[in-house]
Amino acid sequence: HPPKYQMEESSVLRRANCRAKGGAPGFRVAILGAAGGIGQPLAMLMKMNPLVSVLHLYDVVNAPGVTADISHMDTGAVVRGFLGQQQLEAALTGMDLVIIPAGVPRKPGMTRDDLFKINAGIVKTLCEGIAKCCPRAIVNLISNPVNSTVPIAAEVFKKAGTYDPKRLLGVTMLDVVRANTFAEVLGLDPRDVDVPVVGGHAGVTILPLLSQVKPPSSFTQEEINYLTDRIQNGGTEVVEAKAGAGSATLSMAYAAVKFADACLRGLRGDAGVVECAFVSSQVTELPFFATKVRLGRNGIDEVYSLGPLNEYERIGLEKAKKELAGSIEKGVSFIRG
Ligand code: NAI
Repeated sequence: HPPKYQMEESSVLRRANCRAKGGAPGFRVAILGAAGGIGQPLAMLMKMNPLVSVLHLYDVVNAPGVTADISHMDTGAVVRGFLGQQQLEAALTGMDLVIIPAGVPRKPGMTRDDLFKINAGIVKTLCEGIAKCCPRAIVNLISNPVNSTVPIAAEVFKKAGTYDPKRLLGVTMLDVVRANTFAEVLGLDPRDVDVPVVGGHAGVTILPLLSQVKPPSSFTQEEINYLTDRIQNGGTEVVEAKAGAGSATLSMAYAAVKFADACLRGLRGDAGVVECAFVSSQVTELPFFATKVRLGRNGIDEVYSLGPLNEYERIGLEKAKKELAGSIEKGVSFIRG
């Protein structure tokens, strides 16, 4: 007998039918690395998302415990757990959206690039599974270094012949969430603020475009320096405060759900869903770059250009591109050899 929390296919169908009668859409979502610091709160928040009908929780440890726990929440989504590599294919089959927070986080003193050695291999394996079992799924990649893991995923998919640049998105939402929050020091309510953050997801590659903030606001150079530095180093601020116990998990889970929800609303066909993400891009000479993108039924419908930059941002952009080029190349050559 499967464990009680492991719902049988007939029950899943019954619930899906109920939902269909009510006219509500339901998407199938998998979280890979679901038992981790990000994975657990992310799984909890996705279980609360009314757009999710089936939620698959995969990890190499503790997936049954997290699944049993979350399955008791009285929300609509059916939850199923998957433990270990031999269950990866079952976890992925039929998924519309796959969210990947698997891999090791930073400790004080580490850069995101220091995680490459371990996380590159993890992302490769998981993406091989996606190529085989749900090649049409939208992929939200959280595992760091995002600037390299997204190119790795793209190369794995190319090799498998399944690559669709519209469906692969590196999650940089936390940088936007932080930027909106930190603008609070200038007397703005984070709920009303929208700061575009472009480039990538590490140090100087995180480029907040404060000149394009909504509502339009003007900052002193001192405020711009403070905000830019705090947004670029927000992750390190958390790593240091946690003092060896990991990196951002709760704010990341919040950001990941905000982003995943936008992807699902796009899949549903909602108009005007726009968020920043690190994606295949022709906005600069680099093959990947984070900008605002419009999300639709096929993933990314449109990649927006940078818009007008001021002198400070143009200098930041040059620095960001230099570092990004190396990180992208590192990811590509990990697969091409
Ligand atoms: P964690 O160590 O708490 O959890 C990671 C989970 O991944 C663990 O449960 C582990 O068992 C699992 N895992 C390891 N190998 C796996 C495999 N082969 N298949 C499936 N699962 C596997 O780490 P945490 O804090 O959840 O961070 C996860 C990743 O997210 C890190 O790489 C971190 O740097 C990154 N991150 C990204 C952010 C972003 O803005 N994109 C922000 C914060 C963290």
